[in-house]
Amino acid sequence: MTISPETKKKVAQLREQLQKAGYAYYVMDSPIMEDGVYDQLYRQLQNLETEYPELITADSPTQRIGDQVATRFTSVKHNIPLYSLENAFSDRELAKWETRWQKQLETIPEFSYVCELKIDGSAIALTYENGILVRGATRGDGVTGEEITQNIRTIRTIPLKLNLENPPSKIEVRGEAFLPLNVFATINQARSESGEALFANPRNAAAGTLRQLDAQIVAQRQLNFFAYTLHIENQAISSQWESLELLQKMGFLVNPNRKLCNSLAEVEAYFNEWDTARKTLPYMTDGVVVKLNDYQLQQQLGFTQKFPRWAIALKYPAEETPTIVKDIIVNVGRTGAVTPMAVMQPVQLAGTTVQRATLHNSDRVAQLDLRVGDTVIIRKAGEIIPEVVKVLTDLRPAGAVPYQMPRNCPECSSPLVRPQTEAVTRCVNISCPAILRGSIIHWASRNALDIRGLGEKMAVFIAGK
Ligand code: IVH
Repeated sequence: MTISPETKKKVAQLREQLQKAGYAYYVMDSPIMEDGVYDQLYRQLQNLETEYPELITADSPTQRIGDQVATRFTSVKHNIPLYSLENAFSDRELAKWETRWQKQLETIPEFSYVCELKIDGSAIALTYENGILVRGATRGDGVTGEEITQNIRTIRTIPLKLNLENPPSKIEVRGEAFLPLNVFATINQARSESGEALFANPRNAAAGTLRQLDAQIVAQRQLNFFAYTLHIENQAISSQWESLELLQKMGFLVNPNRKLCNSLAEVEAYFNEWDTARKTLPYMTDGVVVKLNDYQLQQQLGFTQKFPRWAIALKYPAEETPTIVKDIIVNVGRTGAVTPMAVMQPVQLAGTTVQRATLHNSDRVAQLDLRVGDTVIIRKAGEIIPEVVKVLTDLRPAGAVPYQMPRNCPECSSPLVRPQTEAVTRCVNISCPAILRGSIIHWASRNALDIRGLGEKMAVFIAGK
């Protein structure tokens, strides 16, 4: 069957409209089309592609969500290895690095640094041939990764086709795939409710998502991507800054919080500024990446076995820390849900003193095999309540016994109930003081009835302790 030129034109036009609308929505964060209109155009394109499958192209907006479930991923060798970064934890270490790279040169030229936020995600490598995305791969060990193209296609901020008039035959783009913090929290919430192991941090969640065999699940997870490295053969790009600008022109999301600095003092000021400001970002950053801007200088300095000599990561203090569990108690909430909590030796974590961490439910405690006396790693990220992410079993004291949830409510002594299909244990006594107290506090709170003066003290007085 021959396809009329009108149909071909219509298909091309729909693709362009959808691509532009998607770019405006996802990359620019400023929509140019009503959702309903987008859906309608999308369906029109889908219908035409169903009728004329020979018109389907790899860069069609309909090709973002594949319907095949992979059985495994194949390994791929990276054309250019993906290096890791050396870490610095203080201004002193940063200054040492500067001295070190300068010593390597006979004369120190004029130079500048590009500061970028270090995104806590998972590095991926993208290959474009003649402007079309042909391959996406995980970093793996830096030399060999896994081919995850069908998952990469679901990331809306990764163009399927580059916005370039005459694209070079081959382009490699690297950057960080990451999960926004709200998506991370939602995923963990769902995992906790279904009794699955929680992701310890957004990085693990992003890496786990990228290696999902079912692309439909990946699409639901809303991964995002910041591009930060561009490799084009025989191209006259002379600096990292230029690369970032070109990546943005090509249609990628490039982190807008980059800065060109002329001295380490400026780098340190940027680092300090973002130590506060990063708390308001919708994604996780764990430091600042400092890169020498000039490509010629980068080339002169080269790489060690693992790292580029021309870049370093200046890290923020950890939001994870070890401590010892002194007791495991349970908290009865207003819905009767009984949550085990670890009472720990107080420690400083992300700027506050912490002595309690949620253990979510009894399955989670069993999974961790957490016992009183254990040394654990706890973590607090952004707004999230501290939680135990790991038990250091090697440090377990002799005689530590596995934890058992109490059989009776610690508040009203009535038997606790755990429905077989749920991960949550509950107190079902509607006169339980903990439930009454929690309900009063909840209903009197600002977001409910906003009854002034009816706070925790009064609730204890009314419901009993
Ligand atoms: S540049 C040779 N830039 O941090 C250049 N990496 O600890 C190497 N990362 O493996 C990478 N944000 O996954 C670079 N703006 C950024 C980054 C970044 C996050 C990750 C990347 C790398 C890891 C090293």
